[in-house]
Amino acid sequence: MSHVQKIGLNLMENGQPIDLYVLTSKNGLSAKILTYGATLVELQVPDRFGEFNDILLGFDTLDGFLTNDPYFGVIVGRVANRIARGKFTLDGKEYRLSINDGPNHLHGGLKGFSKVVWRAEPIPEKDGVGVGLSYFSADGEEGYPGGLSVRVVYVLTDDNELRIDYAAKTDKPTPVNLSNHAYFNLAGAENADILDHELLLVADRFTPVDDALNLTGEIMPVEGTPLDFRTPTAIGSRILQIPSSLGGYDHNFVLNNDCGKLAMAARVYDSSTGRVMEILSTEPGVQFYSSNFLDGSIKGKKGIFYRKHHGFCLETQHFPDSVNHTNFPSTILRPGKTYAQTTIHRFSVK
Ligand code: GLA
Repeated sequence: MSHVQKIGLNLMENGQPIDLYVLTSKNGLSAKILTYGATLVELQVPDRFGEFNDILLGFDTLDGFLTNDPYFGVIVGRVANRIARGKFTLDGKEYRLSINDGPNHLHGGLKGFSKVVWRAEPIPEKDGVGVGLSYFSADGEEGYPGGLSVRVVYVLTDDNELRIDYAAKTDKPTPVNLSNHAYFNLAGAENADILDHELLLVADRFTPVDDALNLTGEIMPVEGTPLDFRTPTAIGSRILQIPSSLGGYDHNFVLNNDCGKLAMAARVYDSSTGRVMEILSTEPGVQFYSSNFLDGSIKGKKGIFYRKHHGFCLETQHFPDSVNHTNFPSTILRPGKTYAQTTIHRFSVK
């Protein structure tokens, strides 16, 4: 039987208790979600022999997640990824956001949505088990206009899927672009790196970045570049062709289906365990990040120090820095409208 369990962690952050929710599906898959950062802490899925393993990078202790500089498993927002120089103009007014990544604003700023406690409650689901998390981001928080009510629901379905539904409403026009920042290693989080994983991305185009990871504003074909993942290709096979200033993949791919309807975005396969993860999303883009900034200094689960390329992120979202590029799909949410996105991680073996 699928079930949800709440574990109080006896720790408060700004007067709010932090809890851990454990979702277990009828097939034995399980997910742990921490109310701090609405963080996906652990995900146990079977390999081709039916052996379960945790496929997410992270920490064994709550303390680890309270700092969590790499953003392991968190919800990033109000706007995921970088906003160049932390500035944008909306309806003729310039806004200045908190700066937390060189000269830029990254993943919502100093705390964003990843370093705050969310309210949570179990959700009855007919096809699985879920937890709903809510956060109210005040007008002016991190420099953003408008009070924003955010809701994220994690559901572990009986069809071996982890579904994440996002919704938000605002009282003033504001940019919103939410994503989950999980780092996966389908061989199991303790295994070396993801360079042998085969990746397929349903993307004919990508948005190039400069040496400082700022978007140039162009939309270019992947054809003839090391970013062509239109057929399954090992992540490591061309990674050294990426300019060394980036250290690997850290790019937004333009998904072929950008209509807001759920569509296939990516598929990843690890031949050592047979695990396959398919990603379906309503979003127009996916940020593929090959954990280039992990440098062996962070001690993660089971005492393992995570090195470069230990995991991969596929962050489904609108394009980074959309507020400064009018040719990108808009991330502006206006009062009376509801922001919504759904992403599904579907697990199988081959
Ligand atoms: C995203 C960015 C990366 C990096 C990580 C967090 O994926 O694209 O450049 O900032 O987050 O370390």
